[in-house]
Amino acid sequence: MHLQLLFFFFSFFFSNSVSYLLTLIHSLMSAPTKTYIQCNPLLDISAAVDDAFFVKYKVSKAAASLVTEEQAGIYAELEQQPNVTYVPGGSGLNTARVAQWIAQPKEEFISYVGCVADDKYGKILKDSAEKDGVKMVLEHTTKAPTGSCAVCISGKERSLVANLAAANCLSQEHMNSPEVAKALEGSKLFYLTGFTLTIDVNYVIQVAEAARKAGGLFMMNLSAPFIIQFFTENLNKVLPYVDVLFSNDDEASVLAKTFQWEDVPTVADIAKKAAKDLPYNGTGKRLVVFTQGSNPTVWATSEESGSVEVTPIATDKIVDTNGAGDAFVGGFLAAYALQKPVNRCCEVGNYAAGVIIQHDGCTFPEKPALSP
Ligand code: AP5
Repeated sequence: MHLQLLFFFFSFFFSNSVSYLLTLIHSLMSAPTKTYIQCNPLLDISAAVDDAFFVKYKVSKAAASLVTEEQAGIYAELEQQPNVTYVPGGSGLNTARVAQWIAQPKEEFISYVGCVADDKYGKILKDSAEKDGVKMVLEHTTKAPTGSCAVCISGKERSLVANLAAANCLSQEHMNSPEVAKALEGSKLFYLTGFTLTIDVNYVIQVAEAARKAGGLFMMNLSAPFIIQFFTENLNKVLPYVDVLFSNDDEASVLAKTFQWEDVPTVADIAKKAAKDLPYNGTGKRLVVFTQGSNPTVWATSEESGSVEVTPIATDKIVDTNGAGDAFVGGFLAAYALQKPVNRCCEVGNYAAGVIIQHDGCTFPEKPALSP
């Protein structure tokens, strides 16, 4: 009898230990690679406006820009619109929140670096990102209020006017802080938006160098045509480090034009050219990924290329496309951090973007309906 009991106890203990060990190994193997994201944290102030508003503030339709002095009143006037909403934004923070949401990891895998003020907008941004599981490595400045972005909606189109404010105050001191060093040292994937090139190119290079030192990958988004057109010198300094390059089709065309590329009739051709011909100091193969709205997402390395279909979403289901590109990268990164193949990463990116365009700004339901 005693022997039987002993046997039962050992087999119970052993089988549970094995299953515990297997669960542990599985969860460790399926834990996404730690990822560092840096950008400008901005609160999106969003409202539908009429054509007179665009004319009054000299805002180009369907474009992104930085606020000028003569546009300073745009935020107060947007806030007076009856339908105004406040949604956490800032391109890289959108990506961070979506990546964390898609991956649904047991613990945070994204660390986000940026600068806010200790004010109401800064608290909204921090609380919402932390609720979504992002580790916020923020600098708090007293020099300016938290940044915001005017999202001027006209039909399904939106125009963005960013007031970087505190985001512009990101300091070398914070970049050298133990918190940022820890986030850099603990990561293998590093994603910065092109918008970071308007703050200080040295911070971008610092992250790119950390990526090389860690044997990780440095990823960048071109983010907006004005980055390529007016921050070309900074972009040129950083491009050699870029292992993975993202953009939409408009930015891809502006890239081709700026670098005077001929014989690139399609966005897929521009992707191949960017993969092969842009200067590169890495040891791997640069990957280029371009989205094209509801048209297929295209990707290329120096040796291979491919495209991934997008499931079209009916116009009446689209709330606004704000954050679509950011959400695509969020989904892509979540899958990439789980070592999925490029086609799957694009599929997951397209799924994430499809969800976000059916919601107000960059917001999403509690759980994704797809796992990477
Ligand atoms: P915004 O430019 O609106 O967002 P985005 O993420 O770039 O999205 P877009 O709508 O521009 O999409 P896209 O053109 O990049 O991609 P595509 O159309 O190919 O920027 C939003 C944020 O930027 C705001 O929160 C703001 O705060 C921030 N911001 C502004 N200035 C800033 C600054 N200076 N610094 C920091 N942040 C700043 O679409 C992508 C994917 O979407 C497609 O691949 C597809 O999967 C999907 N998709 C699109 N259309 C459809 C469709 N019709 N049917 C199905 N899927 C679709």
